[in-house]
Amino acid sequence: MSSAIVPSIAFVAGLPKAELHLHLEGTLEPELKLELARRNGVDIGQSTVEQVRATYEFDSLASFLGVYYPAMDVLVTEADFYDLATAYFRRAAADGVRRVEAFFDPQAHTSRGIPIETVILGYHRAAVDAAGLGVSAELILCFLRDFTAESALETLQSALPYLDRFIGVGLDSDERGNPPAKFAEVFALARANGLKLTMHCDIDQVGSIENIRQVLEEIQVDRIDHGTNIVENPELVTLVRERGLGLTCCPVSNSFVTADMKAVEMVALLHFGVLVTVNSDDPAYFGAYVADNYLALAEKAGLDTDELVQLAKNSFQASWLPDAEKQAYLAEIDAYVAGYPAA
Ligand code: ADE
Ligand code: ZN
Repeated sequence: MSSAIVPSIAFVAGLPKAELHLHLEGTLEPELKLELARRNGVDIGQSTVEQVRATYEFDSLASFLGVYYPAMDVLVTEADFYDLATAYFRRAAADGVRRVEAFFDPQAHTSRGIPIETVILGYHRAAVDAAGLGVSAELILCFLRDFTAESALETLQSALPYLDRFIGVGLDSDERGNPPAKFAEVFALARANGLKLTMHCDIDQVGSIENIRQVLEEIQVDRIDHGTNIVENPELVTLVRERGLGLTCCPVSNSFVTADMKAVEMVALLHFGVLVTVNSDDPAYFGAYVADNYLALAEKAGLDTDELVQLAKNSFQASWLPDAEKQAYLAEIDAYVAGYPAA
């Protein structure tokens, strides 16, 4: 019986899991930021790890994004994107991550004059090499929702020659005044090109419920990023459960950009049978990789081991892996729990 096991960082870090809500640009640790700044001769205004960390002051999505985008100036060459993603994949492997479907923000780079090819090839090379770490990795190209719909369309057109290097599209950045319907055309084009669809429905936004309705009814997404505000609307909860759509929740991130981790909401949805998953979002900024997020939620909500195991199983169920691979990972979870602790 797994419930005899006490939730601990050792148990959680060994539990096979998928990470489905992870921004590669959000994995830029201060040490690597300083190294890339030196490598590329970019003046970032700080020269020590402590100074970089001191700039990580945010209490809302907007104030977080205000720190997040300028930091990307240090990413210039294909090797920089490769090194960033590889550092994350190594860290994720240590947290028991066996599958990653990772976001990247091409417009945050093309708007600075970096060719999209540089970004995609660097990240993709790292994703291929992640197999050597025991991590199956794929990429999700995100559009910045505070840029225009035309810019999103141009971005997708310019990425189409690399269609074999990413599996889906997403939508991130500042939700205020930028509803899902603004991007209906580009998401339809992505779907027509065989890509999976997901969108951020950030926590406690003005119009959260209407935006979630749009992603479900108008865009017809395959997954929702965050999205815990559905708890306010029983019809949406039922719809998400019936469609078997994953919610990619990020407890520690929530506690930075809102006043609350939203643990109560996540657990209510989990118990109702919604495919709730736990993820790290931007771990270098929020100081918590995915195993820390499982444990933070467990401590806050008093989860037992069975509930943690359910969250890990949900992460594979909500992934975009072929069914046979999902089943193999679910069997690995069962074997891990049955053999825990290893002799
Ligand atoms: N970009 C990186 N992290 C994000 C988040 N949590 N919400 C919206 N855009 C983001
Ligand atoms: Zn996010």
